[in-house]
Amino acid sequence: AATRMWGGRFAAGPSAVMQEINASIDVDKRLYREDIAGSLAHAAMLAERGIISREDGAAIAQGLAAIRAEIDGGNFKFDAALEDIHTNIEVRLKELIGEAAGRLHTARSRNDQVATDFRLWVRRACDELTLDLKDLIAALIERAEEHAATLMPGFTHLQPAQPTTFGHHLLAYVEMFGRDVSRLADARRRLNESPLGAAALCGTSFPIDRHQTAKALGFDRPTANSLDSVSDRDFALEYLAALSIIAIHLSRFAEEMVLWTSDGFRFVSLSDAFTTGSSIMPQKRNPDAAELVRAKAGHVIGMLTQLLIVMKGLPLTYGKDMQDDKAPTFAATDTVRLGLAATAGMVRDMVANPERMKAATAGGFITATDLADWLVRRLNVPFRSAHHITGELVRLAETKETALEKLSIEEMRSVDPRITEDVYSVLTPEHSAASRTSFGGTAPDNVRKAVAAARERFL
Ligand code: ARG
Repeated sequence: AATRMWGGRFAAGPSAVMQEINASIDVDKRLYREDIAGSLAHAAMLAERGIISREDGAAIAQGLAAIRAEIDGGNFKFDAALEDIHTNIEVRLKELIGEAAGRLHTARSRNDQVATDFRLWVRRACDELTLDLKDLIAALIERAEEHAATLMPGFTHLQPAQPTTFGHHLLAYVEMFGRDVSRLADARRRLNESPLGAAALCGTSFPIDRHQTAKALGFDRPTANSLDSVSDRDFALEYLAALSIIAIHLSRFAEEMVLWTSDGFRFVSLSDAFTTGSSIMPQKRNPDAAELVRAKAGHVIGMLTQLLIVMKGLPLTYGKDMQDDKAPTFAATDTVRLGLAATAGMVRDMVANPERMKAATAGGFITATDLADWLVRRLNVPFRSAHHITGELVRLAETKETALEKLSIEEMRSVDPRITEDVYSVLTPEHSAASRTSFGGTAPDNVRKAVAAARERFL
């Protein structure tokens, strides 16, 4: 019990089961860098304010640096009996520098310590994920540029709707992942306040300088309310919500990869590096990476849900429930980073099949909207009537088992005698795509401009 930080009050040690349910070291050892950074800032401030001696401050700093090197090098023995990363480090510090180690925890509690560590960790994760997202965005933009004019069917209800281009479709995902970058930036901005110095919950009577430690740790300011400082996990929830949305974007893209590589589509093929074969069917090439990215969205959403449920109904301030904030946050981070890397790899390696995409624009009366628009322009009929006339033409083509542009002019005129020969000029998918020049529209010239703009906006 002597090594236990709270041992003084207790006659007996915890049961083995208590130790097992209480220990978090297997999870929170990932906070060691942040924990040491927080302690370094705290010790320097204590020394500067004369709360501990300069000598003790220097010894603490030296000891902490040595511990960081031990953990970095894999030479640190984590002990579950010491509960968590904070105690493991503090006990080791005592081994290294003796009694001075006991002064580090002056005017501090594990409650503000862990809140500080965790914010620092999530902040760094935001930065790392931003780089991962930008790498994926760069890959998508590159492929979009290459395929700015590659015709493919655009779908609604998974039915061919209007011709678009593969590049335009890829840029849709660039917008999604671009918003994800800005969501992380928002979360980062809000979380960047230092809880350090809130101590257990009420602040401290020691003359600490919270502004100094906040600044030293790269925070914008100290948190304003000590009770909130040790109770708040909004920042982790917000981060997990952002990760969940990223995971959904990845999953939608993965689903399209699965569809597009399927035999009915064959719009793209994936490389050996991101597919697997079958143990029995020699012809198989399965899009496993895409399927797993699709599946793992469930994991990430689960982690958000898990922490939401941990936090709901918790009275202020700290409760040990909150120790269970880290496992879901770490797990979701790992999953999303893996998914981003796998998706960027797939995007860079995928081979598009423009012939198949083009061929798919031939069916499904995909230029019917263009025909209706032509009727509006040429015959000056209201769009609703044009829609009706076009519907009849589609029905006629369907009964004749042919395409709209294969109907003879006589057949067209049997539906509406005002139709003239030049209607055929708007019935090709090339014309359809090229004509959609409205801002943000499909026209290849637009897409090329959008590619350049996306590089400016997101990279
Ligand atoms: N391991 C704990 C956590 O992650 C640190 C805070 C412990 N505080 C306490 N009052 N027991 O939440």
